[in-house]
Amino acid sequence: MANPNLSDRGGFGSKFGIIAAAAGSAIGLGNIWRFPYVAGQNGGGAFLLINLACIVLIGISLMLSEFVIGRRAQRNAYGSFKKIAPGTPWYLVGFMGVVAAFVILSFYSTVAGWTMEYVYQSFANGFAGKSPDGLKFMFEEFMGDSWRAVIWQVVFMILTAGIVLAGVKKGIEKYAKLLMPILLVLILILCIRAITLPGAVDGLEFLFKPDFSKVNGRVILEALGQAFFSLSIGMGALITYGSYISKKDNLTSSAVIVSFADTLIAILAGVAIFPAVFAFGINPAEGPELVFITLPNIFLQMPGGYYFSIFFFVLLAVAALTSSISVLEVVVAYFVEETGLSRKNATWIAAVSITAIGVLCTLSQGLVPWLNIGGMNLFDIMDFSSAKILLPFGGFLIVLFIGWVMKPADVRAEISNDGKLKLPLFKVYLIIVRFVAPVAIALVFLYSIGVIG
Ligand code: PHE
Repeated sequence: MANPNLSDRGGFGSKFGIIAAAAGSAIGLGNIWRFPYVAGQNGGGAFLLINLACIVLIGISLMLSEFVIGRRAQRNAYGSFKKIAPGTPWYLVGFMGVVAAFVILSFYSTVAGWTMEYVYQSFANGFAGKSPDGLKFMFEEFMGDSWRAVIWQVVFMILTAGIVLAGVKKGIEKYAKLLMPILLVLILILCIRAITLPGAVDGLEFLFKPDFSKVNGRVILEALGQAFFSLSIGMGALITYGSYISKKDNLTSSAVIVSFADTLIAILAGVAIFPAVFAFGINPAEGPELVFITLPNIFLQMPGGYYFSIFFFVLLAVAALTSSISVLEVVVAYFVEETGLSRKNATWIAAVSITAIGVLCTLSQGLVPWLNIGGMNLFDIMDFSSAKILLPFGGFLIVLFIGWVMKPADVRAEISNDGKLKLPLFKVYLIIVRFVAPVAIALVFLYSIGVIG
């Protein structure tokens, strides 16, 4: 029983550090790469509205629930369920999170690799003189030659493993604190450039004017999946981070601030991208390459665009890094605490095996087209199964656990720091985790597979 890895767990150093680390996990490619392309494929305005409803009604409470479970148990995601509900199969939810980490990070590192290629292209002035079609061709050519993408992916995974190795305070927290605020400023500047482009209004209308005739079961599931993916909920990343939060910190305000910041960045990314999509005649339903063919067009239209693009893609890579470390940390904390591996071995075993699957995802986009099932390549399968199956299902089980398995008095004690904080909305929260969230997630599932509606 006496596993020395359980007593010296490390933890975040300050309130701002926790918010920065959790926001670092939440804010990443999900906001800047995934949100615009999924919104574009699902009709824009109405998608955004449903996505916001999912965040407010389910997302924030689920984030708080993950913090509660982690901080109560002081364990990794798997160990937390085991400790709070011993002798029950709930630990399987934690185990599912470890599986989800493999799935997410395998395709996430592919996209992070694209970001790094674009850092390189920015330095090399590779966008200069290209037309919108030329920039699209440039990205497609890069994807077709996927060895290049594989090399960047491996570099990215080495960086991720390096930071996770450095541990919670020195690695994760330090980087997140410094870089997240800079990213926000850069996106704001990009927004200003985008909305002053000719024809910007069409893009803003696309993003903000809901057209409910475009809504169907698939759109709702996409909006729910995007909310989960972007907030980093449903797979235990925030249970793991929650376990590093000090007993003195306010979990509710942390969850609210992080959810708000995450949503703000996604909307700002939309405001930067859609006006440019319409101004440059790009198809909003272009898919995963949307951001990579839109942003270089904006940079070419900006004074100082050369430097700006370097700065921007570097920060995007960093945002991806602060997210990917939270995913890897789920697996590493599990290995360290449940199997007694050293942090170093756990990190390398996890990183190498995830990279191996990730390389297959990257190759499935170009060089090895037979890596697909029923018309979806491996990359799409990983993206689909994490956002639309694993995370909502994991989230469903987590709210059931907090609402029906944990004792309300324990949940209350954890959220109120043993009675020190007032909780005027505790009843509302209980109603959400007991009824609203599980029913809503179940309905979305049934509706999207056509069982109802
Ligand atoms: N939320 C991250 C992003 O938006 C991705 C992520 C998903 C991180 C799930 C952790 C867990 O980029």
